[in-house]
Amino acid sequence: MRFFIDTANIEEIREAWALGVIEGVTTNPSLVAKEGKEFTGLMQEIISVVDGPISAEVISLDSEGMVAEAETLAAMSPNIVIKIPMTAEGLKATKILTAKGIKTNVTLIFSLNQAMMAARAGATFVSPFVGRLDDVNANGIELVREIVAAFNCYGLDTKIIAASIRSVTHIAEAIKAGAHYATVPYSILLAAATHLLTDQGIERFLRDWQKLK
Ligand code: E4P
Repeated sequence: MRFFIDTANIEEIREAWALGVIEGVTTNPSLVAKEGKEFTGLMQEIISVVDGPISAEVISLDSEGMVAEAETLAAMSPNIVIKIPMTAEGLKATKILTAKGIKTNVTLIFSLNQAMMAARAGATFVSPFVGRLDDVNANGIELVREIVAAFNCYGLDTKIIAASIRSVTHIAEAIKAGAHYATVPYSILLAAATHLLTDQGIERFLRDWQKLK
């Protein structure tokens, strides 16, 4: 499984990129709004740091508006991936953008049917929201597992991003489910890199090393 960082915070993106673990970035309107910066400038900053897929979300609700926004965003860099909400209008926009060679990430996926339809419309990526499904007492990882099985069964190239990741357990479960990617907030990315026994092991090695003196 590959990693994206799920943030619009440039410092977090720089740190995560330096780790050598992430391949790209996913943003959404809430994450961008949290930064309080002008959207285009912020995307330019991210583009200057990350050489990989960068998902930027459209806010129009109609396919025409989505395509117009997407064309402006895609002109910023070949690394830009247009995040499109999973609606009928979103599917139309995905079809048009795919025909134009613009990559898409169909977001807010909460069912197997939605994932299959997005893939058939030509989505480069689909983003099932694991944490938000768990929030309503459904099983987000189970949905990821079902999408992986279905895409394999039908030989679809669309890549699956386990999104709305809330814990290190979600990451491990996404790996086991066969997700191509997980998009992970910075704090959870760091938590996943650490282990109590690693810390204790380092401490013990250093303590023993001191005995040499
Ligand atoms: C997906 O790409 C979204 O940006 C994100 O994973 C949503 O996560 P949340 O449910 O924690 O807001």
